[in-house]
Order: sequence, then structure tokens, then C-alpha cells
Amino acid sequence: MTLRHFIDTQDYTKQELLDLIELTRKIKAADKQGCTPKLLQDASLAMIFEEPSTRTRVSFEVAMTELGGHALYLKPGEIHLGVRESMYDTAKVLSRMCDAIFARTLKHETITELAKYAEVPVINGLTDYNHPTQVVCDVLTMIEHMPAGKKLEDLRVTFIGDATNVLSSLMFICTRLGMHFTHAAPRKYQPPQTWLQIAQANCAESGGSLTITEDPVEAVREADFIYTDLWWWVGQEDEIPERRAAFMPKYQVNLQLFNKAPAHCQFMHCLPASRGVEATDEVMDHPRSIIFDQSENRLHTEKGLLVYLLYPRLKRPSQELQAYHRGQIEAFLHQIV
Ligand code: CP
Repeated sequence: MTLRHFIDTQDYTKQELLDLIELTRKIKAADKQGCTPKLLQDASLAMIFEEPSTRTRVSFEVAMTELGGHALYLKPGEIHLGVRESMYDTAKVLSRMCDAIFARTLKHETITELAKYAEVPVINGLTDYNHPTQVVCDVLTMIEHMPAGKKLEDLRVTFIGDATNVLSSLMFICTRLGMHFTHAAPRKYQPPQTWLQIAQANCAESGGSLTITEDPVEAVREADFIYTDLWWWVGQEDEIPERRAAFMPKYQVNLQLFNKAPAHCQFMHCLPASRGVEATDEVMDHPRSIIFDQSENRLHTEKGLLVYLLYPRLKRPSQELQAYHRGQIEAFLHQIV
């Protein structure tokens, strides 16, 4: 069986991404009736976190448990990776013991190196370049909150703020799926050409569109969804005064800006948020804010992704084969103890 990782949504076709989302919807429907099928019975997921996490860690761990498997939280400093053991050796060892490896790494190169050596699926839980599991969840959330009379290819998504790893992934998946994506930010905080070329190539194939602007009011005028993210992240503390001055108040998603969007427009944020910075409480807690539906969907999306990647790879021995091996082992045990 071909080994597939989940490092970048660009590695998946439009149809594969839609299949993944549809699979997630079916698993979510089962979950809502209290009957999540144990599709990953006894499977193990190794989870390496080089950075803190609430949603990603909890959603992957709970997803594995509810699917009948198990997740192991592996923290730098508590495993040998990068200190006493090479990436190659760690990838080989985890591949022998676990059915998949998840990693949140500081550098994107770390996860691509891990994937190069691993013999089981590797899942990207956020790097300095992208956050693919987040944005599959985001598209699922948009589908569930689709404005009346629209279909996926009609949707207009506007991202306001810094060109973060979430921005890159959201721009890539929306343009791949044929949606209309706008990013509003000061020029210094707009995406690099390499990212724009990927999104433009997606648009050429999908019929989607890409707009980059410095004008947030124009950017939200036709938006079905407004999305924002943190203006600074761990390691950017020295840049806080400069970044605050660049974004505030023009790019803050406050009621004044939200009211410039159509009356059906909904607000999204991947969280964690700095309330009162990139978005105000009035918008975060607005009746058209869907941030907690979005958060909950991380759990359902991780289930869909884990089943998509792992279910076809798991051995499912017959009752007869299981009884045979149990009998052999128990007979030997009776001889020796
Ligand atoms: N959105 C997201 O990835 O959240 P965490 O950093 O809490 O995992």
C-alpha cells in the first residue's frame, strides 16, 4: 500500500479533500448520536510537540481514544529526538511501534525530514509554514454554515491580518477548492511571492480567485466569512510594538469593520486569540461568530483524517486467526508457568 502523509493540502486533489471532508461529516454524524465506530481499534499515534497546543493536542488525543486507539504525547526534553538521537533513528523506531506519527514542529523542514524517513503516515500539526489540519476543519465549518443559496465554489473568504501559517494553508485550500480568497494586510505582512504563485496556480485550475489588498473595508464588502489570526506568535515578542502599530486599528476585526460586511457574514478564528487585539470581544462573541463550532470541528476533522490515513493500513485478522494465535500462546504458557 502506498504510504501517504498529511504535510500539506497541496499534496491532495480537490476530490480527495472533498472526500476527506465528507468522511468527516459521516463520522461526526455518528458521534452526534453517540456511536462513533471503533475504526482504529488498538492503533497508536505518536504525537511530538515542539510548541504548545490546546486544540490540536486534545483533538488528536480524544479522536484516537474515541476511535478505539491510543495517542502518546511526546515532549522534547522527555524523548531523545534532536539531543541524543537523530531524526532518522527516531522516525524508524516510532514507525516500528506506532501506526502513525503526528508532529508540531518549529521548522517545516523538521516535519518533511521526519516524513522522508517514516514508514507510517506523518501528520503535520503546524509548522512555521502551514497548518493543514486546521484548514480542513475550517472548510468543513464553512460548509456547515453555508449561506443560503450558495455552494462551495461561490464562497468568499476574507482573511485580515498577518500572513501566518494559517493564512498560507487557508489560502491554499480555498483556492484549490475553487473558492474566492482575499487577504488584507499592510504590504510588509502580505504573503511572499512563492505562496502567491501556489495559490494562483490553484485558481487557474479550479476557477477560484485570489485578491491581495491593503484595504480591509474593501476586502470584507462581499465576504461570506471573515477570518483572522494572531498578529504575533511565540518568538516574535521583540516585534510586538512594530506589529501593533502596523495593524492597529485599521486591521482589527471590530464591530465597525464587521458591519461593513454583508448581513450574513460569519466570523472565524483558529484560536488561540488575543481578545481585544486582532478581534474584539463584540465580534468574538457575536451571534454570527462561529469560532467554537470551528474549534469543536477540530475533533471531528482529526477523526476523519486519522481514519482516512490509517484505516486502510490496519490489519483486521479474522476471529479464527485470532483464536489460533491465542491458543498457541496459551498452550505454551501452560507448559512454562
Ligand atoms: N488552532 C490551533 O492549532 O490551536 P492550538 O495551538 O491550541 O493547537
